[in-house]
Amino acid sequence: MKNSKSRLLRRGNKKTDNGITSSCTGTGSSCDCNSIGMGTLPLIVCILLGIHLFSEKRSMAGWMKGLQIANMQNMSTFVSSSWGAVTTTSKTQDELAKSDKNFYSPPLQKLSLLQLSRESAQNHQQHHNCTWPFVLIDDRILLQQDQDNANKEETDQFDAWSYQHNKRKIPRILHLTWIHDDPHHGPNKGRCLHHLQAVSIQRWKKLFPNYSIFYHDDYSVAKMMQQEFWPEFPELAKVLQCVKMRNAMLIDIWRQLVLYRFGGLYVDLDEIPTEQFTEDLIPQHVDFFSFSDDNTRPSQWCFATSPGHPATYHSMLTIFQRLLEMPDISRPKLVLMTGPEALKNGYSHTFPSKDRYNEGMHYGIFNATGIKYTRKKAAVCLVNNRNDPFPYNATHNWTVAKQYEADLGAVHWTKAGSHLVDQGRGSCQQHLYEFERRSSRFPGREWIQQSQGRR
Ligand SMILES: *[C@@H]1O[C@H](CO)[C@@H](O)[C@H](O)[C@H]1NC(C)=O
Ligand SMILES: *[C@@H]1O[C@H](CO)[C@@H](O)[C@H](O)[C@H]1NC(C)=O
Ligand SMILES: *[C@@H]1O[C@H](CO)[C@@H](O)[C@H](O)[C@H]1NC(C)=O
Ligand SMILES: *[C@@H]1O[C@H](CO)[C@@H](O)[C@H](O)[C@H]1NC(C)=O
Ligand SMILES: *[C@@H]1O[C@H](CO)[C@@H](O)[C@H](O)[C@H]1NC(C)=O
Ligand SMILES: *[C@@H]1O[C@H](CO)[C@@H](O)[C@H](O)[C@H]1NC(C)=O
Repeated sequence: MKNSKSRLLRRGNKKTDNGITSSCTGTGSSCDCNSIGMGTLPLIVCILLGIHLFSEKRSMAGWMKGLQIANMQNMSTFVSSSWGAVTTTSKTQDELAKSDKNFYSPPLQKLSLLQLSRESAQNHQQHHNCTWPFVLIDDRILLQQDQDNANKEETDQFDAWSYQHNKRKIPRILHLTWIHDDPHHGPNKGRCLHHLQAVSIQRWKKLFPNYSIFYHDDYSVAKMMQQEFWPEFPELAKVLQCVKMRNAMLIDIWRQLVLYRFGGLYVDLDEIPTEQFTEDLIPQHVDFFSFSDDNTRPSQWCFATSPGHPATYHSMLTIFQRLLEMPDISRPKLVLMTGPEALKNGYSHTFPSKDRYNEGMHYGIFNATGIKYTRKKAAVCLVNNRNDPFPYNATHNWTVAKQYEADLGAVHWTKAGSHLVDQGRGSCQQHLYEFERRSSRFPGREWIQQSQGRR
């Protein structure tokens, strides 16, 4: 039940206009670094995005070019060293090892996390401003600058820090998101978050000082899912046609993809870490990390993997299969299709041993090494504040959930649903067929024309 608590759907919006605010009130790039006490680590450069970035006099075109080249050529070699390959064939591991080496090369990594972050910040500045009770969310990007990296591209410095020079399997990156996906959302789009949600990000910044923190807004989620080329998941663009629940369900899929592509830790935004959640919970030698949910499944609201991990790969295959088999696109079974059950399936493919759902270390295919903590541990490490009352105004104390609803126009996904019918009914396969039928390249057109002519 835990994960379902944190899924919200949004519609409509009411907002109050008490002026512009920001999560980072200092000026220049030092405010967050100082507040987390990193001033004493000279090797680290902290870059703040959001409003501050584009005031820098920097040749964007030249910078982007450098980033892309570094990313295409060097990130891919880096990623390939962390995972040999993941494959759909039923060959055994030994057979695979003997087959064509090229088959093992993962595709070139085209999208850079740094680029995505910068585009999102730029996009925000151009189009949106946050008005209270919404606040601006900055990313925190940590780079390693030492003798080895002094002249390297930022991407390499970022990798060096995230992976601690290859000592770590899961990079020190935290991914957070909240999709607005609402045309009525007014100015509070993009990197604007409710101030009660922003509390969570401030906690992460404090408790995970060595992690880069990326907030993925609507823009960067859409960019990664729709505009990025996924050679390993050719079905993606098509199957997304059957995903009508553009918030919770989309984010289920997105969290698998973002970890598959970049690696790191994903946590639902309304989970707030306690002092018990330290960086040490995700040790450097593991490539998979999770707690347990109430059904001993890996916690889909909080899990971490290295890039290209078999568990996220298999979770994606499970998602494709279950979406394609969906009998009614207006009534998706989230938990089964894209949610915790999909991750469970990906996890159990990766860690075949019988005790894989127990607490402790687990060893799986491709030498996967995972750690799984208990449900009890999750409850100690993360609190969900959605049902706690907070002052709303002088006369009302409202739960966070209620304040979200009032301020964002948000409704929990279990209460939403009926509006999905507007988007069409029928099975995913019917829906795809209809969709393709409108495309001029679809050979089925001729079949349809012929069969209509025969009538
Ligand atoms: C990045 O890739 C280029 C081209 O393959 C290579 O010349 C360069 O040495 C690489 N840099 C690093 C840091 O690996
Ligand atoms: C956002 O705020 C800036 C600075 O106050 C202003 O120049 C800009 O026009 C605003 N943008 C929008 C879309 O309101
Ligand atoms: C962050 O990294 C520094 C340097 O590697 C280390 O001394 C410190 O213990 C780390 N902090 C945490 C919370 O792990
Ligand atoms: C697993 O690890 C062993 C020992 O480190 C290594 O010999 C083997 O090649 C690895 N297998 C795969 C599939 O990576
Ligand atoms: C507080 O909010 C509620 C609900 O919007 C409203 O009815 C009430 O008048 C507000 N109180 C004040 C003092 O603004
Ligand atoms: C809201 O909660 C606070 C703290 O529990 C309490 O002091 C205050 O009286 C409450 N206000 C209202 C309007 O209920």
